[in-house]
Amino acid sequence: MRNDSAEPNGIDDMRNIAVLGYGVVGGGITTVIEENCAKIRETVGDDVCVKYILDLREFPDSPYADRVVHTIDPILADDSVELVCETMGGAHPAFEYSVSCMKAGKSVVTSNKEVVATFGVELLECAKENGVQYLFEASVGGGIPVIRGINTALAADQISSVNGILNGTTNYILTKMRTESRTFDDVLAEAQVLGYAERDPSADIDGIDAKRKIMILTALASGKLVRDTDVYTETLRNVTVEDIHAAEAWGGAVKLIAGSVIDGDAIQVHVCPMFVPWSCSLAHITDVYNGISITSPVCGDVMFYGRGAGRLPTAGAVVADVCAILSDAAKMERNPVFVKADDGCVKPFDEIGFRCYIRANAGQVELCEALAAYCDGTEVLSDKAGVVEVITGKLTKPELDKIRVQFAGIESVIRVLD
Ligand code: HSE
Repeated sequence: MRNDSAEPNGIDDMRNIAVLGYGVVGGGITTVIEENCAKIRETVGDDVCVKYILDLREFPDSPYADRVVHTIDPILADDSVELVCETMGGAHPAFEYSVSCMKAGKSVVTSNKEVVATFGVELLECAKENGVQYLFEASVGGGIPVIRGINTALAADQISSVNGILNGTTNYILTKMRTESRTFDDVLAEAQVLGYAERDPSADIDGIDAKRKIMILTALASGKLVRDTDVYTETLRNVTVEDIHAAEAWGGAVKLIAGSVIDGDAIQVHVCPMFVPWSCSLAHITDVYNGISITSPVCGDVMFYGRGAGRLPTAGAVVADVCAILSDAAKMERNPVFVKADDGCVKPFDEIGFRCYIRANAGQVELCEALAAYCDGTEVLSDKAGVVEVITGKLTKPELDKIRVQFAGIESVIRVLD
């Protein structure tokens, strides 16, 4: 008999799953399954039951209090559990638990970008060896179906570039700095109070979170997972309100862009603050929203947009993967597949030139003459009270480093997204 109240106890005509980690996303999974039980039943063909929740804590006030276990063993030993949702965060023990579950014949779905960016190749191999599935839609872009989009809708095309705003916290900070002319530190403190930013915000503001996400998208787009040390990553901490106003005067916005360029076998991946022109959709993505622009020869530019974080959007993406596996739909569609990138195929960031915004306490003539030694086409934006602002021609990082040595008065350098 079906159970419309979604209060299952893991009986025979239900599809039993387990949740590893009952935090923000793990808690959202039980909410989504409860609230959407009729739709999920229609998709899967049976009710889905959360039979176990693995967490170090107890949840005495939760309706799921009796499902809480403190070790992985009962989940591994229970053959009626066919799928596990890993929402623990961190690489360990999420990796070891996921491997154990797959070796025990259980498919795994995850929202954990760190484990996918670090061990995605091993986890996909493990799934293949054990005849189960490993899906991770929620690991990038929260509720935005970008991974399934790349794997299925764009499957016939060679993706040539990915550019994304992949971190909601930093996009919120940049939006507030622009609209309220507030400093980075001031808005960061507010974001921490509102719960958008962690007490230790470095994963967000130093680009680490966005780096993991662009590594995953690039792996799906190119078939190769680069090492995190191969991704040039620049912090947002040095962006000032002056930079943001300069971008507006130029005709755009400052955004933390996670980007990759795929040129045959060569891949280049970076995360850095950039001037994004208003003509690019990414410039208009504000607050905690995420956006991903994917370019390919056949489809041109395809844009994904939505809530890149948050309890229910992320949990919704996890449960969508659960439905895809339990309904067998995932077996029919193209699943994620990638291998480790060879050293030779990663193009060093130092070789890539970008136009740059430069603000310096320098004479216009002196700065422009120095820049002319490295690039053509420098455009002067303003020259007031001893401060000159320019948009340069294309410069590589080593060239920028030399220019910084030449001009002690350089206040700001931000690359331009062309
Ligand atoms: N801290 C992340 C963000 C959460 O701000 O986007 C989602 O990965």
